[in-house]
Amino acid sequence: MEIQGKTVLITGAALRIGREIALDLSRCGARVIIHYCQSQKAARMLAGDIRREGGEASLLAADFSKPGTAVLVRHIQNRLKREKLAVDVLINNASVFYPAPLKKINEKNWEDMMRVNLKAPFFLAREFGLEMAARKQGKIIQILDWTVQRPHPDYLPYIISKSGLLTATLGLAKALAPHVQVNGIAPGPILEARGMTPGEKKRAVERTALKRFGHPRDIAAAVRYLIEGSDFVTGTVLPVEGGSLIM
Ligand SMILES: NC(=O)c1ccc[n+]([C@@H]2O[C@H](COP(=O)([O-])OP(=O)(O)OC[C@H]3O[C@@H](n4cnc5c(N)ncnc54)[C@H](OP(=O)(O)O)[C@@H]3O)[C@@H](O)[C@H]2O)c1
Repeated sequence: MEIQGKTVLITGAALRIGREIALDLSRCGARVIIHYCQSQKAARMLAGDIRREGGEASLLAADFSKPGTAVLVRHIQNRLKREKLAVDVLINNASVFYPAPLKKINEKNWEDMMRVNLKAPFFLAREFGLEMAARKQGKIIQILDWTVQRPHPDYLPYIISKSGLLTATLGLAKALAPHVQVNGIAPGPILEARGMTPGEKKRAVERTALKRFGHPRDIAAAVRYLIEGSDFVTGTVLPVEGGSLIM
């Protein structure tokens, strides 16, 4: 699928990896819908940057941690329809990430992770995926995490939510075939998590074969490949983790 002229919805796009994906796809000629939750100012600045470069950007605010995900997603869909925006590519990038050691797991942090990292992306993928299937063209890209295959015991709710999204990716790829391709990207250490200690950062680097952090550009390039590089890839996960899985 050519990126030029397509409409791409990117969740959690105001900052960090989402921002890089938005800028990259805009530079390839996509119209980007920048979803944000708290980062309204950063989202507006990004839209301004994109427009100054000659691109097109719209803003969309939504908090995925609230109950009523399916209703919220339908509300988003209706709003985009009113603006005559048909989503050609959905990138589920928004995520909540913090440690929850076994003894500290409770219903609050469990539901927080499941709603933001699994339920919202699933319902977004279902609704927009069905629309894409009806139009006989579309791509859905889920930003996962390489640690799904090496779960860290202090992050179980996060990693279980991403594992659920991985399974959803495989099932949706079958359910939405043959016209919609659904894939995941599994990043390794790309940007320091908020509150990461120097020791944790060192350990994250040591777990990679390449002995360094990646860059948001590495994820943007993988996204570009899954959109434009091939239409014969579906139901798979592209690891972008500096060789962590071979360690
Ligand atoms: N950073 C890494 O090295 C790394 C490693 C492995 C996997 N990943 C995955 O890659 C993706 C991007 O990583 P990142 O570090 O750039 O992500 P991030 O900064 O942790 O989060 C991305 C965005 O998610 C949005 N978000 C958080 N809570 C939300 C809620 N309740 N409702 C709606 N949106 C919400 C936030 O939007 P607002 O700021 O607008 O509130 C935030 O900017 C994530 O899926 C992450 O799991 C990242």
